[in-house]
Amino acid sequence: MNIIIITGGSKGLGKALVEKYMKQGYEVYSLARTPQKETNPFFSIEIDLSNLTKTIPVFRNLLEKCIEKNPNSITLINNAGTLGKIDTLGKIPLENIESSVTLNYTSPLILCSLFVSILSGFKGTKKIRNISSGAANGSYHGWSVYCSTKSALDSFSKTLAVEERSSASPVHVLSIYPGIIDTGMQEQIRTSTESEFSEVQRFKDLKKNDELSSPQEIAESIYLIDTNNQIESGEIVDVRNF
Ligand SMILES: NC(=O)c1ccc[n+]([C@@H]2O[C@H](COP(=O)([O-])OP(=O)(O)OC[C@H]3O[C@@H](n4cnc5c(N)ncnc54)[C@H](OP(=O)(O)O)[C@@H]3O)[C@@H](O)[C@H]2O)c1
Repeated sequence: MNIIIITGGSKGLGKALVEKYMKQGYEVYSLARTPQKETNPFFSIEIDLSNLTKTIPVFRNLLEKCIEKNPNSITLINNAGTLGKIDTLGKIPLENIESSVTLNYTSPLILCSLFVSILSGFKGTKKIRNISSGAANGSYHGWSVYCSTKSALDSFSKTLAVEERSSASPVHVLSIYPGIIDTGMQEQIRTSTESEFSEVQRFKDLKKNDELSSPQEIAESIYLIDTNNQIESGEIVDVRNF
């Protein structure tokens, strides 16, 4: 039996990942604010991942429960993410900066830390897949928090992979760029004004020209990347080059 934990499994790419892994026979746990109908082997945990005080004990309990099931593998996909308020930095409310940084960066680090420590004695396969973005390498006007947190997440994935190399039962870590997907996140982008986001017209055109990927096709690609044994831990994989 294989277990996968997916953050943000309630909508968009995360929801498509939940469906894909269920079809592949995994036991799937989703952590998101919106509760989902549970249908065995799918379990929904209602949690705001930007609230670390609440998240830490919930995730610790979940991992301990996973170990008791003695699975062949345990995978964590850090998928939940937000653009936060799209605007130039000085116009973004400070609490919005804080919650976006926590969701996109601090929370995945905390989940990874618990994953590595609590599963240290687990001898099965252990994998972490951090859903990043091509924006990690870009400098989009109005996206300072998003670009910088994704960039930091990439750096973290690479560093964790280096640390895990010397572990007796290493965790395999990847950072994945999913491309441009037709989800609520893209809807939010298209509602921006030009003063908030200077490239908004390009994103409106992508939608108009039907150039967005569906969450289902990207979930397929992520599954293939996740289960491909040839990719070295620490790599940053762009679905568009895979
Ligand atoms: N869409 C794109 O074009 C694109 C491009 C590159 C990278 N990505 C990345 O892909 C990932 C998924 O994006 P998406 O497009 O599917 O976004 P989305 O449609 O906005 O979905 C975001 C998911 O994250 C969850 N989430 C948001 N805030 C949360 C919080 N505070 N606590 C717990 N869960 C939270 C949401 O669930 P609830 O609202 O129920 O909490 C939802 O399930 C993100 O990491 C994003 O950065 C997306």
